Amino acid sequence: MRPLSALAVYSLFGLSAASSTGPVVKNANHIFNVIHDSMRQWGSSLHHNGVSFFLVTVPAGTQLYHGTSNESPVNGTEWLAFEPEHAMVFARPRRRAPGGGPDGPPPPGEVDDEDKRREGHEELRRRHPHGQDETHPGPPPPPFEQFDENKAGYLHTYAAMKDLRLLYIDGMSAAKTQKGTLDSQDVLLFNGTVDNSRGSEPRGKGPRGEGDRARKACEMAEDDWAGRVDGVLRMEAGFEIILCMFERDLIPVRITQVKSRTMDEHARGNNGWEEKDHGPPDGGRRKGPGPGGPDSLRWMRAVTARYQDIGANRVSVNYENFVTAFSHDVDLFPNDSALPRLEHLSHSELKPIQKEVTALVLTHDARESSWNWRATADAIVTRYSDELTYLASNKLATIEALHDHIEVLFSPFVDYSERDALLEADRCATQFMPVSLQGPKSLAARSVYSVAHTVCSTLLEVWVEQELESARDTLTGLIRYLDWTTWKECRGCEVNEICVIPIWPMGTVDDYDNPQCKLVSNPYDGDGESYWGGMHR
Ligand SMILES: *[C@@H]1O[C@H](CO)[C@@H](O)[C@H](O)[C@H]1NC(C)=O
Ligand SMILES: *[C@@H]1O[C@H](CO)[C@@H](O)[C@H](O)[C@H]1NC(C)=O
Ligand SMILES: *[C@@H]1O[C@H](CO)[C@@H](O)[C@H](O)[C@H]1NC(C)=O
Repeated sequence: MRPLSALAVYSLFGLSAASSTGPVVKNANHIFNVIHDSMRQWGSSLHHNGVSFFLVTVPAGTQLYHGTSNESPVNGTEWLAFEPEHAMVFARPRRRAPGGGPDGPPPPGEVDDEDKRREGHEELRRRHPHGQDETHPGPPPPPFEQFDENKAGYLHTYAAMKDLRLLYIDGMSAAKTQKGTLDSQDVLLFNGTVDNSRGSEPRGKGPRGEGDRARKACEMAEDDWAGRVDGVLRMEAGFEIILCMFERDLIPVRITQVKSRTMDEHARGNNGWEEKDHGPPDGGRRKGPGPGGPDSLRWMRAVTARYQDIGANRVSVNYENFVTAFSHDVDLFPNDSALPRLEHLSHSELKPIQKEVTALVLTHDARESSWNWRATADAIVTRYSDELTYLASNKLATIEALHDHIEVLFSPFVDYSERDALLEADRCATQFMPVSLQGPKSLAARSVYSVAHTVCSTLLEVWVEQELESARDTLTGLIRYLDWTTWKECRGCEVNEICVIPIWPMGTVDDYDNPQCKLVSNPYDGDGESYWGGMHR
């Protein structure tokens, strides 16, 4: 073979910015990961601070679920889950307020609905309590809650009456944390106006601000977005929709009563809480055992089945036109924060991003034709993820062995009669792109190309590197830059295990740093420090 000279490669780096595909894309690695993580429980849990907005559509006929204490179909604005197991957590009788009359009628209409939702979330929190601190959302429930045994919980199944047009707020944007998961809503979309106060409810119900977020999103849909979206799509332990008009957009399919929990089961649930809640008051630290009981077992199985995709073509994403703060000239990583934040940005920095979101909704449509750039990103990640780990490892003991393996990877792109670094890097980078889509196109196209090109040109660079250590450093640097979520995946979990990462409000710092296969019946058994710290204000 005719080896490429080091000089040729260096000139490649000099020229790559000016190659056929246009200028280098700022934050290309992050934008690539935004695309790759989209509609995935896995990537969106690891990269949990979303700073991007997509137009998506949920096709007519898709079945969606709502859990409540109410037997009649919902009117107005409410939450919908993609997995019935997620909704079932909220399918429970109303809890009676201590001291309140057992038969006092619930307040009517939306307030009631919001109330129920909040109760549902309180249930979630109660099962996965955090250490006590001043940000705790409320006093612990009484040891034996008062449930009206004549009342039941209901699982509503609806079908979308039409293609639902939604704004997808990426990351773990339904997680009520202080770690930045809410920045894209509270800071950007709602411009700091979300009311996070607990309100006047006697027992401090629910995640603060949720009702306000839903109301504001639907007001924006109507007023600022000219009725062009029907709701928003977010993720917590499961993907969910805030749909503005249930009665307009859904056909009730069935309303079924869920299995009642006995007083015993309720009490057991509470004991779990009681033990932990009265533990040492050490801030964000807490001990397991996390969720137990049939609800959470069912729920975690359903949620983790969606690690790699929402599945069943239930959501299609417009990747051709979307908005991300990563494409703006702002510092998203203040103080070397590991994940992006928006809360420190000034109004003049936020404004252009806010405007871009409005323009996106007003001028684009989720159904316009769009290349599936996530599929292209997938092809690149699956092609190189293990290979890069292998190349950077000490499994290859000499620089020659390293070179040989790179040649194995790279030879399809080489014309051995005429070596040309520029051409080779470009052929490698465009392998998974349709020829018609190459060149300076959408942000997604440019970002995906840019990342692929970085991988390919780094391989070329290492191919001529003479020092093993320095070659490995280059590869390790590339891996750090790419930050693909595949590098945190567990391998070889048993059939009764899942790969555990923190999904709000569950999980420890160690679950984040070093995900492990754990029993699905007791996934959050860790003793360590809670990943999420205190609850949202
Ligand atoms: C929703 O509206 C319909 C028709 O107006 C009504 O019959 C139904 O009772 C309402 N449901 C609820 C839960 O308020
Ligand atoms: C956002 O909030 C800032 C400060 O509160 C205000 O000056 C600005 O006008 C608001 N922008 C919008 C679009 O409401
Ligand atoms: C960065 O850290 C300093 C010192 O802890 C703090 O005062 C400042 O507010 C931080 N800046 C941002 C944007 O978080």
